[in-house]
Amino acid sequence: MSALSPRLAAIVDALPLTPGMRVLEIGGGSGAAARAVAGRIGDGHICMIDRSSKSITQAEKNAATEIDAGIMSLRQVAVEDFELDPDEQPFDLAFAVRVGALDGRHPKAGQIALQRIADALTPQGRLFVDGGNALRELSLPR
Ligand SMILES: C[S@@+](CC[C@H](N)C(=O)[O-])C[C@H]1O[C@@H](n2cnc3c(N)ncnc32)[C@H](O)[C@@H]1O
Repeated sequence: MSALSPRLAAIVDALPLTPGMRVLEIGGGSGAAARAVAGRIGDGHICMIDRSSKSITQAEKNAATEIDAGIMSLRQVAVEDFELDPDEQPFDLAFAVRVGALDGRHPKAGQIALQRIADALTPQGRLFVDGGNALRELSLPR
């Protein structure tokens, strides 16, 4: 089972989550933060993506309850390649914690990732990454 570390708990606490929201987590690893988000969005939905098959397999095990309930879904994909399925609604909020493409470590991948995220969010959608006071908001290309 994936325990929520104090670091991830502080990040989830800082996210402006509301019931019914559609949330995208990028690079969610074992699914600990995504599960905590799932517990806070009522009948909303969280989709966690990760490029690693190992992470997705782990998250599948850890979040079986949330996945079975339809509150959470998983997708193995790099954020640079992510796009909404044809019948999929856009997300209201996206977040990423310790993901190189979004924390400035890989600027070129970062630019592509920001565009992919912007395209998957509603026009008012917001993106948060770790840093600053638990979280900082990144501005998106529109
Ligand atoms: C350092 S771990 C952090 C996991 C979790 N967010 C946390 O803070 O505990 C980074 C995770 O992001 C995933 N990742 C890294 N780059 C990615 C990318 N470009 N697209 C999707 N996932 C990515 C990795 O596979 C890994 O699971």
